[in-house]
Amino acid sequence: MSASSTAPPLPEIVESAGLLIGHRELPSRYFLAPLAGYTHLAFRRALREVGGLGLATTDLVHATQLCGEHRHSLELVATHLDDNPLTVQIFGGGVEQLVGAARWLESHRYAGIDINMGCPMAKVNGQGGGARLLCDADNACRMVEQVVAAVSLPVTVKMRLGWDRDSISSPYLAKRFEEVGVQAITIHGRTRQQGFQGVVDLEGIAATVAAVKSIPVIGNGDVRPPADALQMRRVTGCAAVAIGRGAMLDPWIFRKLADHHRGQPMREPTRDEQVDFLARHFQLMTEQHAERSCILFRKFAAWYGAKLGIPEDLEHRLRLFNDFTEFEQIVSEIRERHGERRNTIATALIKVPNGPVERW
Ligand SMILES: Cc1cc2nc3c(=O)[nH]c(=O)nc-3n(C[C@H](O)[C@H](O)[C@H](O)COP(=O)(O)O)c2cc1C
Repeated sequence: MSASSTAPPLPEIVESAGLLIGHRELPSRYFLAPLAGYTHLAFRRALREVGGLGLATTDLVHATQLCGEHRHSLELVATHLDDNPLTVQIFGGGVEQLVGAARWLESHRYAGIDINMGCPMAKVNGQGGGARLLCDADNACRMVEQVVAAVSLPVTVKMRLGWDRDSISSPYLAKRFEEVGVQAITIHGRTRQQGFQGVVDLEGIAATVAAVKSIPVIGNGDVRPPADALQMRRVTGCAAVAIGRGAMLDPWIFRKLADHHRGQPMREPTRDEQVDFLARHFQLMTEQHAERSCILFRKFAAWYGAKLGIPEDLEHRLRLFNDFTEFEQIVSEIRERHGERRNTIATALIKVPNGPVERW
């Protein structure tokens, strides 16, 4: 799927309000897919302020480390009253660790748990598993069933179509997961072997949708302009769409889809709104990380630089700034000078693995 310059008619979808996942009522059918290293608390909060987001999921959190309350895991699950609805994604360890992490999340009042079915458990426990669980349905179901039984929170699963083209397992697994009490499935329409190559297979997503009785299936993969999300829903019949890189490229995508379903034209952000988003993203980061935000935000310099058409010298300073005052100075110069450089759609700035993907 890709954007085109002459706007074709938008695929027709009659919106039927939000969506239920278990007892959770979600305000829209457009979700944020987890992008480890990007979809952190500050980014999620900034996105939610823009509007239209139905559900966000944390970056994947290692179950064993969460149970041990390792600092990094606690940072990953850090949340805020504004950061709602939120699901925490767990992976790794064995069944006991996944169950332990699920119980930890329930006792800390989180509202939903997602199991990453592409986790490299083979490496962790040496017994095979991880994305291989996609080929080992019995083992995967036993594991998921125990997590479901351990908590009263809705448990969901995110997976790919299968190990490779010759072993497409998601329809069968989705059906089995529903039988053991999983409340929704997110399906990235590629195989583990494909990594991020090729294009998303909408028929594969449709086959997964067709395999379940009543739980929502959330389609995922390659949604860029909002029309792609509508098209995915129309072609596959999926109940909702999870958008990852498309939300980094265009944090206004959820608002645009909400506009569309209200029968209004999709609002493009003004230049000022775009700079405001950058500033807000950093400000929200400082609430969690204080001065360390200056270092953490550097990673986004190239991203915003390309997106906002920030002149090279300012982008360079955004990569090196050391304190809040310097940040403010850079932002006020950006307000005056952004657009001096031609802005680009910088998908390439979100690094994806070259080959097969073990975790996601
Ligand atoms: C940098 C990066 C990090 C990701 N991290 C996760 C993750 O933590 N958990 C997960 O389930 N998927 C993860 N994914 C996969 C995405 O959630 C999504 O399935 C994939 O990018 C396809 O959707 P998109 O085209 O909308 O980005 C990651 C993808 C990328 C590119």
